[in-house]
Amino acid sequence: MTTALITGSTAGIGAAFARRLAADGHDLVLVARDTKRLREQATELHDRHGIEAEVLTADLAADAGIEAVAARLGDRRRPVDLLVNNAGFGNKGRYLEVSLADELRMLKVHCEAVLRLTSAATEAMRDRGRGGVVNVASVAAFVPRGTYGASKAWVVQFTQGVARDLAGSGVRLMALCPGFVRTEFHERAGMGTDNIPGWMWLDADKVVASALHDLARGRTLSIPDPRYKALMGAAKLVPRGMLGGLSSRTGRKYGPQ
Ligand SMILES: NC(=O)c1ccc[n+]([C@@H]2O[C@H](COP(=O)([O-])OP(=O)(O)OC[C@H]3O[C@@H](n4cnc5c(N)ncnc54)[C@H](OP(=O)(O)O)[C@@H]3O)[C@@H](O)[C@H]2O)c1
Repeated sequence: MTTALITGSTAGIGAAFARRLAADGHDLVLVARDTKRLREQATELHDRHGIEAEVLTADLAADAGIEAVAARLGDRRRPVDLLVNNAGFGNKGRYLEVSLADELRMLKVHCEAVLRLTSAATEAMRDRGRGGVVNVASVAAFVPRGTYGASKAWVVQFTQGVARDLAGSGVRLMALCPGFVRTEFHERAGMGTDNIPGWMWLDADKVVASALHDLARGRTLSIPDPRYKALMGAAKLVPRGMLGGLSSRTGRKYGPQ
């Protein structure tokens, strides 16, 4: 029996991680801002799978929230074996249409919280000689697309760099880069999704199954689904300047409005 801590566990990809890990018999620490929703989730997973599910209410856009989760990860009496840094959000609008405060909030949740929580978790894991961290990025990491893409590019570079630094320590790290996934993400950001073709949408449970398979195989980067693997492979062959233009045009045609 091991314990996994999932940030942003109450919806979308985080909830899919919680369902799958609970079904596999792992105890859970569930992190998000909405306490009522966290408690309902913990009760449901406990009743259905017989696992222990702990609730930790924290806003990862605030220092106090990050510190509370880091303290839980560093608690040597109650070890966490798997950390899933999943909490995240989108901002509607192009650069300068989004307020600087919202851009900074995104960097705090997507980058600063991920750095501080990964550090707290891996220090304890390295001492025990085992553990894993999944940092949820996005395929947006591979195309020039504003603060969201830049923050996810940081997640990929950071995760793969740390994985290299901790190689041989027994601690595995992997960046997960999904394409469009049906979750609450776009609705929360007020983004319309009508013009995104059906074939581009992924199922959160399948994304998680693919991610855990890749983590078990020791991958440091996981791009779930062959369609997105092919798209990202093709993107590598296109010069970066041209990729920016292409991404912006297809983003306007197919991306969230
Ligand atoms: N959906 C996609 O198409 C897609 C594609 C690629 C990557 N991703 C990435 O996948 C991750 C999960 O997104 P999702 O699509 O599953 O989104 P979602 O359905 O909107 O769920 C977001 C989760 O994060 C929590 N959360 C948001 N802000 C938080 C904060 N400041 N502090 C703590 N928890 C917070 C939310 O709960 P509370 O509101 O209660 O805090 C919720 O549990 C994100 O990092 C996102 O960038 C999503």
